Amino acid sequence: MPKPIEATRAKAADKANAIDSERTLGLEFIRATEAAALSAYKWMGKGDKESADYAACDAIRGLFDTVDIFGMVTIGEGIKDEAPGIFKGERLGTGNNAVKMAIALDPIDGTTIVSKGLPGAISVMAAATCEKPDDDPMQLLADIPSFYMSKIAFGPRVKEGPGRVRLENTVQDNLEIVALKLGKRVQDLTIVILDRPRHERLIHDVRRTGAAIRMISDGDIAAAIAPALPGSGVDLYMGTGGSPEAVLAAAGIKCLGGEILAQMWPRDEDERKALKTSGVTDADLAKIYTCDDLAKGNRILFAATGISDSALLKGIRYENTSAVTESILMRSKFQTVRYIKTVHNLDQKQIRLRSDAQDHAL
Ligand code: FBP
Repeated sequence: MPKPIEATRAKAADKANAIDSERTLGLEFIRATEAAALSAYKWMGKGDKESADYAACDAIRGLFDTVDIFGMVTIGEGIKDEAPGIFKGERLGTGNNAVKMAIALDPIDGTTIVSKGLPGAISVMAAATCEKPDDDPMQLLADIPSFYMSKIAFGPRVKEGPGRVRLENTVQDNLEIVALKLGKRVQDLTIVILDRPRHERLIHDVRRTGAAIRMISDGDIAAAIAPALPGSGVDLYMGTGGSPEAVLAAAGIKCLGGEILAQMWPRDEDERKALKTSGVTDADLAKIYTCDDLAKGNRILFAATGISDSALLKGIRYENTSAVTESILMRSKFQTVRYIKTVHNLDQKQIRLRSDAQDHAL
């Protein structure tokens, strides 16, 4: 018979876990991004992004086949480029009556990076817990209908106080606001931008201010979160990138108290028309989405593991008989940031794959 005080404590612990389940589930998400990153890493520099993506997806599915959650994928990957992905509407986890969560994921952000063996790739997942049993997970992590969004992302110090960074401001105005808030000169700022022809004008305008640009070939989730992380060396992220990536970045930025502003960016008239035919209004197209619009509620979980070095995380390293991964785990509720360095013993390590429901050595 437990003593009354122990029974009370046990009851309190049960209650705390029930209302704060992401606290314990976070490690499962990290195990999933680790497994995806390690599986993807086997394809690093092999010129085969589909196989890398397939391997990462297989590992995430396999891991969640052992986790007791009711996960509903509200944002999968593979939509933009028809890659072999985990798609919207897919269920992850074994639980029917378990914690209900919306899940957004990108098993590899930077598939081309992995195929070319370059820096900047991460494996990333975000989840939003349904607070009430009848909450609809589909509403929590926004599924934006356009392929791309125009984005600007910054940290908490830039978000606070008067003088607002806005998507519609000139580049000069935005950089002056950022510089003022960070106590720097504009020419000492570092802005990350995806290296794309569509950014020619943006790059020109940033260069005119004297600020430095760190150009990346791919992987704008890590790039958009970096300004909100102290010590990343990045002050601002600007440019147009994937819409699912904007939502995943928003989940991470929300956990850090920063902000992303994003607006749908139809590539051409055909896409604009197609969006409108599907029910997107002019008001939707004009809407500036914030972290709270893209990742709703205050029970957001964000987990990522580095595949190759990025502004967010170090990539995987093989050392003798071990593989070392670096991951980040964050929750919006208390904005705690955990860096998790894991040493995987290659003689023992097993990764469960969904494709054959078996454990595999690395
Ligand atoms: P993938 O990993 O799906 O290839 O995406 C990489 C990425 O660089 C994203 O980080 C970014 O949002 C998007 O592609 C940009 O799209 P595009 O390469 O079409 O400009």
